[in-house]
Amino acid sequence: MYKKIVGMSGDNEGWQVARRRKGKTAKTKLQVSVSEPNFQDHLDVDKTEARLNQTVSGLRYEVFYAKWKDKLLTAAVGIQHFLEKNGDTEVSANHGLDGSPPGPPGQMECVCFGLGSFSSCVTARYQLAMLLLLLDALKIERSDCFVFDPVFSSGEKDVLKRIGLTVLTENEEGKREANKPTIFYLMHCGKALYNNLLWKNWNKQYLTKIIIIGNSFCAMKERTIDREFIRDYKYISQITAVCKESLLPCPSHMIDVFSDTAVITFPPGGVDELSELTWLDPPEPQYEHCVDLEIVCKDKLR
Ligand SMILES: C[S@@+](CC[C@H](N)C(=O)[O-])C[C@H]1O[C@@H](n2cnc3c(N)ncnc32)[C@H](O)[C@@H]1O
Repeated sequence: MYKKIVGMSGDNEGWQVARRRKGKTAKTKLQVSVSEPNFQDHLDVDKTEARLNQTVSGLRYEVFYAKWKDKLLTAAVGIQHFLEKNGDTEVSANHGLDGSPPGPPGQMECVCFGLGSFSSCVTARYQLAMLLLLLDALKIERSDCFVFDPVFSSGEKDVLKRIGLTVLTENEEGKREANKPTIFYLMHCGKALYNNLLWKNWNKQYLTKIIIIGNSFCAMKERTIDREFIRDYKYISQITAVCKESLLPCPSHMIDVFSDTAVITFPPGGVDELSELTWLDPPEPQYEHCVDLEIVCKDKLR
């Protein structure tokens, strides 16, 4: 689904959606080595942070960023209303009753998987800049934003810690439980990462607290052979019909960075439509039929 693009201008290396017809085998494969020594271990942390800050400053004034912010705030406030209506007292919100614009829920967390190497890849750097702006907009403390990617070098982890984010040390393979309202930021990630995330939160109570900013599930379904989608990505395939997707705008000069991205939520009215049997003892995904899993697993590279 993704192909690596290299060398547009020195640091412009990244991942691109490899447009292929439904069912065509990807010609390229995600290749990540977590054991090879990484030159970014000797990263100039000050310079990388300064470059990131510059990117944030530029992005802040982009019209499309304002639209991303609005869509995300709307989704967050929707979750807030639902939780309050259902007596969830752990969250508190600014509903704009004091004349200010409606604000996001309190006590939200954010989890970012699959950002990529933001010191060498301009795509990942823009995505990180967008993440920082969205945290700000939602008033989520940076320390409540958990990030993990097996490609992060130790230098990159230093930068992430320095800017206040919490770097996870374990590869959870996307299997992270949302026991409080959580935004998952998974930009251009392998389908297994989304599928694992859904499996770990496969109950109505958790799903209704989640917002995913990531690849459109509908587009994934469209690009994958039905039989394989249902067999290998059972949780994405079941939820696609009932989740709510709102595509995020992407200017033409940023196609590689922000294309094919949606705010995905799981409104109670939708998840209630799935049969009760769906929720019983959901089996952990195994991917035994997948030759090209697109993610790095805990114990081995697949
Ligand atoms: C296609 S690349 C996308 C990178 C970047 N977000 C972009 O759009 O260019 C997928 C990313 O997922 C990361 N990844 C793979 N397995 C992962 C895992 N188990 N947990 C978190 N990230 C993972 C890869 O290292 C890679 O950086």
